[in-house]
Amino acid sequence: MPENKQNKPKIDYSRKTLNPGTLLAPLPAVMVSCGTMQKANVLTVAWTGIVCTHPAMTYISVRPSRHSYNIIKESGEFVINLTTSKMVRETDFCGVRSGKDMDKIKKCNLHLEPASKVSAPIISESPLSLECKVVEVKQLGTHDMFLAEIVAVSVDGHYLDSKGKINLQQSGLMAYSHGEYFALGRKLGSFGYSVAKKAKTGAIPKNRKK
Ligand SMILES: Cc1cc2nc3c(=O)[nH]c(=O)nc-3n(C[C@H](O)[C@H](O)[C@H](O)COP(=O)(O)O)c2cc1C
Repeated sequence: MPENKQNKPKIDYSRKTLNPGTLLAPLPAVMVSCGTMQKANVLTVAWTGIVCTHPAMTYISVRPSRHSYNIIKESGEFVINLTTSKMVRETDFCGVRSGKDMDKIKKCNLHLEPASKVSAPIISESPLSLECKVVEVKQLGTHDMFLAEIVAVSVDGHYLDSKGKINLQQSGLMAYSHGEYFALGRKLGSFGYSVAKKAKTGAIPKNRKK
């Protein structure tokens, strides 16, 4: 039937209020390693974040039904491993299969190395890992929140410049948004750039030819 503009149903584009939900996005989808070098497990976690600068603190929220839950509760330690586009399949796999049933590390061909301050191992494929010690476990409902201090950071030397500054731009970090994984895209700016001093009058901006 030919389209008739006048007969088209009107769509209501006004903002709507929805029921409460966990729709914050984007989030990291990290691989959390726990246990020991000899007996390790990995689970994928999206409910994580930073909660304090000094002391450096983070959290992960984990359902008590996860195999990793008791390992983390008993050891009081875990490692948050950042994930990259190259690790997306393994990240998903470790979030849909349980260490109860299989050795996910072997299955995903992940490599482990010892952390410096905790017994939980680091995943070698990760560009940056946060070694964490639990300071409090808070029951919230479906999930328990493990509030933890970041006691050490381990970074792949490829992402450290000559001055020791971390630069993860080339590492291919990924993000998780509403059930889907995305590669991080184009750089848009850097912290504080909106108020940074403009080049002095007469100065030629770096990217403009003389
Ligand atoms: C992208 C993604 C994010 C997830 N985030 C969480 C989370 O924040 N907390 C949680 O308890 N489970 C989360 N899960 C589910 C667990 O990773 C999953 O149940 C896993 O199989 C648990 O492994 P385990 O039984 O070996 O501990 C997530 C899964 C995926 C795929």
